Amino acid sequence: MDKQLHLKEKIMEQYEKIALNGNSDFCCVPSSDCCDTSSEILISPFESSKAIGYDVDKLNLIPESSVLGVGCGNPTRFADIKEGDIVVDLGSGAGIDVFLAAHQVKESGKVIGIDMTENMLKKARENAEKHRYKNVEFRKGDIEQRIPVDDNSVDVVISNCVINLTEDKLNTFKEIYRILKSEGKGKMIISDLVTSKEIDTDSINAGNWCSCIDGALTKENYIKGIKKSGFTDIEILDEKLYMELEAGEEGQEKRQITSISIKSVKE
Ligand SMILES: C[S@@+](CC[C@H](N)C(=O)[O-])C[C@H]1O[C@@H](n2cnc3c(N)ncnc32)[C@H](O)[C@@H]1O
Repeated sequence: MDKQLHLKEKIMEQYEKIALNGNSDFCCVPSSDCCDTSSEILISPFESSKAIGYDVDKLNLIPESSVLGVGCGNPTRFADIKEGDIVVDLGSGAGIDVFLAAHQVKESGKVIGIDMTENMLKKARENAEKHRYKNVEFRKGDIEQRIPVDDNSVDVVISNCVINLTEDKLNTFKEIYRILKSEGKGKMIISDLVTSKEIDTDSINAGNWCSCIDGALTKENYIKGIKKSGFTDIEILDEKLYMELEAGEEGQEKRQITSISIKSVKE
């Protein structure tokens, strides 16, 4: 099977499962030993969200089942979202950051969540309906192909632990650039994982890719991709060690996975 299709199917399979059953066998907590399946440590989505920088008081305002504990940062914390803004969240999952942003844009603004996984969209839409959010919408789309949003129409693009899952990261950044308002009015604030060492194509493990590890770029290559898509000023807002991976059996070196939050404005 075509490698790209194979990875995409695996990603969808994994996130369909998480949407249906929660995040029990997925590892997304910074520098913890939750990946050690021999231990019985189970950490709730709320606890893991706290560990990556979410404020509990804010989480208490949004639907509980939108918090899956699969992010790696808190982009809304840095985004300075204003009343009336149009916000797009890429890879919105069950909607955690969409709902947080919805409280900031209020009735005159709008937040659009984009995801490619049916059950994530279903869960997010059910949350929106049940909790009567009128200023949110969830659209189906593959962000590395085309983001289903008009050119030059968005004030803020946010994303949390998603771009590392894409293979065509450059096109993803170009798509973000396309939908943002120009002349300094549109900005992106993304949280994502980067690695100290990229993995060779031959050594990619689909499971590790789906868990946001093997698709990670180095910080330098990540920033290079953002610049190549048209952004000029790039600011690192936060940077934290996320996990350390021991050397692999097939000669892979020890790797450090780091969570970063990045801001860039479309001039
Ligand atoms: C690690 S989860 C993060 C979810 C959410 N941002 C959060 O913090 O809870 C990744 C999400 O991105 C979605 N996703 C992965 N690749 C995608 C793509 N190419 N286009 C759209 N959505 C994608 C998955 O379906 C999943 O819901």
